[in-house]
Amino acid sequence: MERTRMKIYITRRLPEEVIARLQEVFECKWWDREDIPVPRDVLFNEIQEADGILSMVTDSIDSELLDAAPRLRVVSNMAVGFDNIQLEEAKKRNVIVCNTPDVLTETTADLTFALLLATSRRLVESATFLKNDEWQSWSPFLLAGLDVHHKTMGIIGLGRIGQAVARRAAGFGMKLLYFNRNRRLADEQSLGVEYKDLATLLQESDFVCVLTPLKEDTYHLIGEQELSLMKSTAVLINTSRGPVVDEEALYEALKKKLIWGAGLDVFDNEPVRASHPLIHLPNVVAIPHIGSATVETRVAMANLAVDNLMLALTGKAPKYRVC
Ligand code: GLV
Repeated sequence: MERTRMKIYITRRLPEEVIARLQEVFECKWWDREDIPVPRDVLFNEIQEADGILSMVTDSIDSELLDAAPRLRVVSNMAVGFDNIQLEEAKKRNVIVCNTPDVLTETTADLTFALLLATSRRLVESATFLKNDEWQSWSPFLLAGLDVHHKTMGIIGLGRIGQAVARRAAGFGMKLLYFNRNRRLADEQSLGVEYKDLATLLQESDFVCVLTPLKEDTYHLIGEQELSLMKSTAVLINTSRGPVVDEEALYEALKKKLIWGAGLDVFDNEPVRASHPLIHLPNVVAIPHIGSATVETRVAMANLAVDNLMLALTGKAPKYRVC
């Protein structure tokens, strides 16, 4: 029997008003938990009937899953990143993949800068110190950190978020360097950023912000060799994807104090457990992948993922199409 309405599967519980928009047009089902991802076997079953899915970064959309989804036409990912989706496999099957850039740019840049400040000014350590009732006296070098203003920031990946971080850094009077696959001459002018090759950027920067997407050629872009080029007073911030940085090499560099500290929002295997060695180092501020996590931005991302899904399934151009 021909269906009257197309079917959508949403892989996480989203606000009712967001789901309601989809329900006006489609038959919708969803994984009714906000805190944990849909189990693979559940998704495997649901995707068999679905014309479209609204997915999260925690869902691995691979060939096995796509093979089980003969009707699937659209995967709308509620994220700017799409390394959780095997794009080539989607393309082969004519499945459209969409993402949600722009709406999270400023929010993620805010978090990147917050992490940079928290790391360099030892905010988490300072708050813990108070909670542990360790404060005896104001002292000249108590919890002394590093200045941020007027230092040199190196941005790896001058995309939308990299540019937004550069604008914030300019307000702190920082000198700005960047490394990017392609030179961005117009941005060099408008943002006052200077292009450097990766090695020079690492050697000259006081703060290195990793903001490049995870791709085959950015996997372990920052490894032992790259870390060894950084100043011993430098701080590495990663708000992109964990595997862009070699975690073991980073652990060694931090432990041996080859670099001063690191602020990490992302990890190789998420969620990291409390037993993860990196998060216990005193010179690390580690947070659980919250780059775009404000209520306003997450609602905007969910709505944009819905827009993309609706447009693509009704034969129109989605707002943001990856492939
Ligand atoms: C989150 O990490 C995203 O890619 O939006």
